[in-house]
Amino acid sequence: MQLSEKKATPLTRSFFKEAFMEKIVVSEEKLLELFDSAMQASRVSYSPYSKFPVGAAILTSDGRVFTGCNIENRSYGLTNCAERTAMFNAVTEGATKIAAVAIATPKSDYPVGPCGACRQVLTEFGDGDVPVIFGPKVENLKKSTLAELYPFDSLHELAD
Ligand code: THU
Repeated sequence: MQLSEKKATPLTRSFFKEAFMEKIVVSEEKLLELFDSAMQASRVSYSPYSKFPVGAAILTSDGRVFTGCNIENRSYGLTNCAERTAMFNAVTEGATKIAAVAIATPKSDYPVGPCGACRQVLTEFGDGDVPVIFGPKVENLKKSTLAELYPFDSLHELAD
C-alpha cells in the first residue's frame, strides 16, 4: 500500500496539522480593533426582551472581519446569539477559519463569555489556540482561548 493510499488516523492528521499549518498570530492591537467592531455591532442588537445587547466580531484567516449581534424573538427560544450571527455571516461569505473572536456586552458589569451553544459552534471553525476576548468595555476585558472555553470536546476529531 502506498503512503498516499493510507487513510490518515486522527493522530497522523493532528501531526500534519501541527507541523505544516501556519499558526496565525493576532496582535494585541488587532484584538482591540476587533473588540471595537464587536462594540459597534452591539449597537444594532435586536434585544427588546432581555434588553441585553451583545456584539461579536470574528477575524478570519483571510484577514476579513465579520460581525454579528444578538437577535431575539417573541418566541424566546429562537434567539440567536451575537457570536453565532457573526459566525454564520462569515461562513455565508466563504470564510470558515477563525483567527480571533471578540465579544462586547456593553451592559454587563463583568466580562460575559459565550454561551455553551456558541462555544460548540465556534470550535467547529477555530483551533484551540484561537484568542477570544470579551467584556463590557476595553478597560474590563478577559482574554481566553477556544480550548480554555470549551475543554474536553469529545467530538473534535469529527471536525478535523
Ligand atoms: N447573548 C449573546 O448574544 N451572547 C452571549 O454570549 C450571551 C448571551 C444574548 C442572548 C440574549 O439575547 C441575551 O444575550 C440575554 O441572554
